Amino acid sequence: MITGKTVVAGVVGRPVAHSLSPILHNAWLAAAGIDGVYVPFAPDAHGFERLANGLRGGAVRGVNVTVPFKEAALAVADRASEAARTAGAANVLVFEADGRILADNTDGYGLLRAFAVQAPRWDVGLGPVTVLGAGGAARGAVAALLLAGAPKVWVVNRTLAKAEALAAALGPKVVALPWGHAAGALSASTAVINATSAGLGGGEAPDAPLETTQPQAVVMDMVYKPLVTPFLRRAMELGRPVVDGLEMLVRQAEPSFEAFFGAPPPAEVDVRALALEHLA
Ligand code: ATR
Repeated sequence: MITGKTVVAGVVGRPVAHSLSPILHNAWLAAAGIDGVYVPFAPDAHGFERLANGLRGGAVRGVNVTVPFKEAALAVADRASEAARTAGAANVLVFEADGRILADNTDGYGLLRAFAVQAPRWDVGLGPVTVLGAGGAARGAVAALLLAGAPKVWVVNRTLAKAEALAAALGPKVVALPWGHAAGALSASTAVINATSAGLGGGEAPDAPLETTQPQAVVMDMVYKPLVTPFLRRAMELGRPVVDGLEMLVRQAEPSFEAFFGAPPPAEVDVRALALEHLA
């Protein structure tokens, strides 16, 4: 029930209609008995700044931000967490009563929580990690790994210049490699993360020599549609432990919920099952 005291939060994206975030947050709100609501916002391609600036003052408590506005979200904020600054992007904006906008990035938290849940024997400090891709998703993953203490991250990308730019932005622990050198990196990595857009919507897996990975190397795909991507399917056929993108999506939502509604999400809701139902 919407009352005069309902706290409003939401998600901004383009397109936003298929976002799972309203499903997750509203299920948590209902289970926690919080007087709040979580709604979608879809500004046009140039309308993000106008929307965000219009929400200054806190009539809407905060928003998650998704593709293609995460970089714009960081730019519009008055203050940003280290996670958001390192990732170069924000997926959470909180609108303070004094008019300021605070930016955070919980995607990195989601990524590492997903590993902790689905590959509990893996640890970020164990050794090098390979990230495939050099776009916004890849930068977020590399930033999260570095902040969590990864000793080295190889960024393998089809367009080497983009991997080099990412490495230059994030420091000496990040090393750029052309696609042709992937095998060497994969064979020495404790985990491999697909952060390319290949495989999105059921397309081809990125052409990476997964057979060169060590038997215990964890293979993760940030794509969650389909849940088992061609990339993860290949890893499973090789017997590698895998982590899926849906777990990351669900886990990044947890600190967002707390930022908006002031309480952690109730543990008893099986949001993963709920998300799977809506993906089907
Ligand atoms: P996002 O913000 O979601 O990361 P992006 O910035 O468009 O999206 O980046 C997409 C990434 O996927 C890039 O690293 C791209 O490689 P290029 O820089 O060479 O374009 C990578 N990518 C897309 N399709 C790919 C494919 N079929 N094989 C390998 N890499 C692919």
